[in-house]
Amino acid sequence: MNSRRIDGKIIAQSVMDEVAKQIIDLRSDDIRPCLATVLVGDDQASATYVRNKHKACSRVGIETKDHRLSSSTSQESLAGLVSSLNDDRTVHGILVQLPLPRHIDDAVITSMISPAKDVDGLTPTSAGLLSMGRAPLVACTPLGIMRMLDYHKVKLQGKHVVIINRSGLIGKPLYHLMLAEDATVTTCHSLTRDITKHTRRADILVTAVGDRSKFKLTGEMIKSGAVVIDVAITRHDGVLAGDADYESVISRASLITPVPGGVGPMTVAMLLHNTAKAAALTRLD
Ligand code: GUN
Repeated sequence: MNSRRIDGKIIAQSVMDEVAKQIIDLRSDDIRPCLATVLVGDDQASATYVRNKHKACSRVGIETKDHRLSSSTSQESLAGLVSSLNDDRTVHGILVQLPLPRHIDDAVITSMISPAKDVDGLTPTSAGLLSMGRAPLVACTPLGIMRMLDYHKVKLQGKHVVIINRSGLIGKPLYHLMLAEDATVTTCHSLTRDITKHTRRADILVTAVGDRSKFKLTGEMIKSGAVVIDVAITRHDGVLAGDADYESVISRASLITPVPGGVGPMTVAMLLHNTAKAAALTRLD
């Protein structure tokens, strides 16, 4: 095994083992953790992601409800479904798979999710609490990235972290998690000028663009010894790839996540972690 490679599958399995134990404990208290997913439309990639989330839930003993709506579903009927899942006491986590069809305002829908069931950390309540360092439920991909860095004992205090993404699912929550660990954080996006100037200054570089025609990370764009976390996953020349040109980046990086097998399994594992946590928090109700 290459010692510079961060194996997301192994770290995800350790999270899943932890969650499986928690589920046994919750069941002994008559709490049967359940995740409800909502998939609107027939995007193949989204359908695959949702299927993988269901499979992972069944491996650790989390029950699931699978809601599928047609791409022509109105915002009102989707809102009605979210509302009924909020009221359903057998459901502990709600995940509305993104992206939603263009005629639906995703911010309106995700904001409706009960914060107690917000396993994606997308509601205004979760986002606000995270900025105060007090969120019980945090977006799964950023949480998974923090877990991978912790597993490899990567020190963050005083380090320069550069994040190429500003979304509510990745860049923004990760910014807060990194800041809470006393890192110095730079967020880059599509209008950032001279992106290489930023990437070369990163001790830890997180890249999540997902379009090789717009951005490709190569070895000469990073500082020697940097840790590179590649969140992107797209099909490129028929094979799955991230933002990084893996061979050229690994020659200069001290640690790097592969694609596939890096961040992806961690996102799923942290969803299970969040669902178990949401279920455990109902003990306090
Ligand atoms: N689409 C891609 N990743 C995610 C995710 O983590 N959560 C949701 N809800 N949608 C996604």
